[in-house]
Order: sequence, then structure tokens, then C-alpha cells
Amino acid sequence: MNKTRFLAATLLGTSLLGGVGLVIGDDDLRRGFGGHDVAPADFAPYQEECGGCHMAYPPGLLPADAWQRVFDNLDDHYGDNAELPPEQARLIRGYVLQHAADSNGPLRTRAFAAQAFPASQEVRISGTAYFKHKHNELPARLVEGNPAVGSFSNCQACHTQAEQGSFNEHQVRIAGHGRWDD
Ligand code: HEC
Ligand code: HEC
Repeated sequence: MNKTRFLAATLLGTSLLGGVGLVIGDDDLRRGFGGHDVAPADFAPYQEECGGCHMAYPPGLLPADAWQRVFDNLDDHYGDNAELPPEQARLIRGYVLQHAADSNGPLRTRAFAAQAFPASQEVRISGTAYFKHKHNELPARLVEGNPAVGSFSNCQACHTQAEQGSFNEHQVRIAGHGRWDD
């Protein structure tokens, strides 16, 4: 995000919080960011190399430390080998770290920024406190027990606009199930 937009967002946030005592809601998170609440992945080498087995996760879904660990362990990647030639890995890692959750992206991104993963915990977007908080009402039969979804890592099986960086709960259609009404 450029400085002006960041400043505008900060001022908006401050006036909402200070002025009328409102809490920033989910709809506020999306306003002013072109409809997407996490910047979508937009670097072709990343999309090609990291978007084959699953969607190319928007870099703003994990903080830099966590991404660093993913890139340090590509040969042992959730049961797969996702190793890249060194030059390609360096290029892609540079892009991802630059746009990580703690890089002052759109507001929703910042909700993913605070997550620390101790060495004993696997790095997962779906393992962040914010993610768990947002998905704790979903029964396992709609996720692991649902062949059309399989796991929470499969964001776009439920978030129809995930690849555009939009996780708006109103756009959720759970594959093999349909609309989500909470
Ligand atoms: C050979 C297949 C393959 C490739 C290539 C691959 N991944 Fe993965 N990735 C996986 C699998 C399998 C999982 C675990 C999915 C699950 O649990 O359902 C995973 C999970 C992840 C997760 C955790 C998702 C979550 O649940 O939060 C991240 C982050 C990730 N990959 C990043 C990357 C990056 C970055 C690259 C490119 C350098 C990459 N992946 C390339 C197979 C791959
Ligand atoms: C099995 C379906 C499913 C999968 C897979 C899934 N989500 Fe969700 N997600 C939902 C539902 C349903 C909601 C709305 C929950 C509610 O508000 O009751 C939601 C809400 C969210 C929200 C908050 C949206 C809002 O408007 O408040 C974010 C952010 C989000 N998901 C991100 C992700 C990411 C990132 C992934 C992949 C790593 C993912 N989700 C995978 C079903 C899913």
C-alpha cells in the first residue's frame, strides 16, 4: 500500500475509534481497498511455482517469520517436496516476505500479522488465532469430512473470491454443501 492510502486508513481507523467510540467491524475492514481485504498474489513466478498443488496463498496471510520457515523447509513441505532451484527460491521468497502480513497491507492482513509460531508448531494460515476464531463454528463434516473440501488449507473451496484476495463471509459457498448461514 502506498503511504497516502496507509495514512488515510490510519486516520479513518482513528476517527472511527476515537470519534464515536465505534469498533471497526468486518465491513470496515474491506472499505477502501478495492473490494479485496488481503492483497492477492500478483507475482507470476510465485503463482506458477507455489500455485500448482494449492492456491497461491496471498502473502498477507502469514507474517514474515512464518513465511521464512516455510521457505527454509521446502524439501519437507507438509509431506511433499516443494523445493525450487536456489535462484527461483530467492526471487519468490523476496516477493513473499515483502508482502507478508506484517508489512502494513490492508487491514485484514494485519489480523494475521500477530501470529508467532513456536518451533513445535507447524506453520499454517489455518493455525493462526485469527483464522481459528473465524472458523470455529464450522463442523468437521463440512471440512475434513467433506471430500469436496478436504482441509482448511483449501481456501477457495469455500471462499469463491479467495484468489482475488477477498474472504468476505457473504461470498462463502462451501463446496459440496452451499451457502453458509451462521
Ligand atoms: C508438490 C506440491 C506443493 C507445492 C509445489 C507447494 N506446496 Fe504448499 N502445500 C502442499 C501441501 C500438500 C500442503 C498441505 C495441505 C493440506 O494440509 O491440506 C501445503 C500447505 C502449504 C501451506 C500451509 C497452508 C495452511 O493450511 O495454512 C503454505 C503456507 C504453503 N503450502 C506454501 C507454499 C509455498 C510458498 C510454495 C512454493 C514455494 C508451495 N507451498 C508449494 C503442497 C505443495
Ligand atoms: C470449509 C470452508 C472454508 C474453508 C476451507 C476456509 N474458510 Fe474461511 N470462512 C469460512 C466461513 C463459513 C466463514 C464465515 C464464518 C462466520 O462468519 O461465521 C469464513 C470466514 C473467513 C474469514 C473472515 C471473513 C469475514 O468476513 O469476517 C477469513 C479472513 C477467512 N475465512 C480466511 C480463510 C483462509 C485464508 C482460508 C484458507 C487458508 C479459509 N478461510 C478457508 C469457510 C471456510
